[in-house]
Amino acid sequence: MDRELNESEARYKGILHQSIEPIIFFDPSTRKIIEANKAFCKLIGIAQKESNALQLFDFIEGNRQEINMFIREVMISERGQVSNATWKKKSGQLVEVELSSTKVRLKGKDIVSIMARDVTVLKKIERLKEKERQEYFAAIVEAQEDERNRIACELHDSLGQMLSAASYKIENTLLSSVVILENKKLLKSTRNIQKILDTAIEEVRNISQDLMPMMLRDFGLGAALRHLCAQARDQGVLDISYRNYISDLRMEKKVERIVYRIAQEAINNVFKHSKAKKATLSIKNKDGKIILRVKDNGIGYDLLAKRKKRGMGLITMEERTKSLKGSLKCRSRVGEGTQVLMSFELEGR
Ligand SMILES: Nc1ncnc2c1ncn2[C@@H]1O[C@H](COP(=O)(O)OP(=O)(O)O)[C@@H](O)[C@H]1O
Ligand SMILES: [Mg+2]
Repeated sequence: MDRELNESEARYKGILHQSIEPIIFFDPSTRKIIEANKAFCKLIGIAQKESNALQLFDFIEGNRQEINMFIREVMISERGQVSNATWKKKSGQLVEVELSSTKVRLKGKDIVSIMARDVTVLKKIERLKEKERQEYFAAIVEAQEDERNRIACELHDSLGQMLSAASYKIENTLLSSVVILENKKLLKSTRNIQKILDTAIEEVRNISQDLMPMMLRDFGLGAALRHLCAQARDQGVLDISYRNYISDLRMEKKVERIVYRIAQEAINNVFKHSKAKKATLSIKNKDGKIILRVKDNGIGYDLLAKRKKRGMGLITMEERTKSLKGSLKCRSRVGEGTQVLMSFELEGR
């Protein structure tokens, strides 16, 4: 029995000292290091003999409560734990590590072994890539919005004006042409042309409004959101109320557009998926923090199931929020309605 124990101990120690990855054994009751390998000492920047004097709290960043909780979890788990942590070198420099921790039996006592992998560089690259991806997304969205804006203005100012002029001319011609007025057939077909023109004018207005709400450009977010709700209400299936606590506050054009698009997508989702009878859209300014909330009393959905398979709408809302360094929270439960809460700081973005 003793021999077996000694053999397993020797095996553990062998693994520890041969590993090129940092490994430590520590006592979970005193939190002191029992044994550490060269790789660990090199990572932390200490001499091998200094390692025995080390306690976990000396080099693991985070409060004691968190560290104690981590130890407890390792001690009760059969398969060990994989986690991320930040360690502090003797020099004070921080390293990010991926840990694989297990309970092992050494000298008849349960102790903890931690194998670490230095992922500082990897994490830095990941963060850079994520930042690059976000910037790329923001640039595409902005270019798309600029293009929409351009087309909306062209449609409204150029095509819209021409159609209005044509409609006006026909009206004038009708009034001044006795020939047309006296010829029923000609009069009817001229009236028809006029109707088609008026429908086209309306259509141009709707398309251009959809591309870039003039309200947003001319009167700002508060007014544009009011209009969005009014449009939604006009469809006659949803009682949507609007609470504007920002009055006619103007923000940077880009910011207004982002918030508007998020509200638009959230309302579209209420229409498309919620089967709600009632909804509220509110926007407020709490000490420089803008908070947009869209809430419905519809069928709701399973957030966990959707997290794995999100639609483009939710992804785009999240990306847009990130570009304002804000936060987006969706709360929903099947049968209990849905709430989308988006917030960001006006200054210091
Ligand atoms: N207000 C809502 N009420 C109920 N379900 C919703 C609501 N908003 C989103 N969902 C659910 O979340 C899914 C993802 O939404 P989204 O990313 O906008 O994609 P899409 O609208 O294109 O389906 C929807 O398919 C729907 O199942
Ligand atoms: Mg959607």
